[in-house]
Amino acid sequence: MRALKKITLTLYVSLLSTFSIASGSPEAVRFSDGIYNKAQAKSGKKLYKKHCLSCHEKGYFEPVFLAWQGESAGTLYEVMSAAMPESSPGSLSTDEYADIFAYVLKEIGYPSSTATLDPDSEAFSKIIIRPPG
Ligand code: HEC
Repeated sequence: MRALKKITLTLYVSLLSTFSIASGSPEAVRFSDGIYNKAQAKSGKKLYKKHCLSCHEKGYFEPVFLAWQGESAGTLYEVMSAAMPESSPGSLSTDEYADIFAYVLKEIGYPSSTATLDPDSEAFSKIIIRPPG
């Protein structure tokens, strides 16, 4: 009797976890879905040149995103917008930081779409950083 109860419980728990994985993942947004548009990346390129390039060469972000794997996009955005540019932290507008983030995504190889990257949106903040592809 005891053994049966244990088996039933194990089954139940594994069903539960299967269910939550199945219902949770299709809705989760990923960078590889295309979360920024080309206009943002273009504007971001100019802003990056002006505010970031002096300290961070073009290839800087690839290893940064690798190191940040598993963390949320929201956290990386917060670090970036609150602490950068180091010479004048937090001095750009939300739109400007968003455009720079879009440009960085493009440089790393994430696709664009017609979407607008909005750092204040819940969907963005919940994205988990993963390599492109
Ligand atoms: C005056 C130099 C300077 C400028 C300009 C600058 N940064 Fe930085 N940045 C640094 C330093 C120094 C660090 C910390 C050391 C490191 O990780 O290279 C850093 C770290 C970062 C990090 C965190 C990396 C990590 O692994 O945690 C991000 C993201 C970042 N910078 C983005 C930017 C962006 C975007 C801009 C332009 C808006 C910018 N930085 C402008 C000097 C600068």
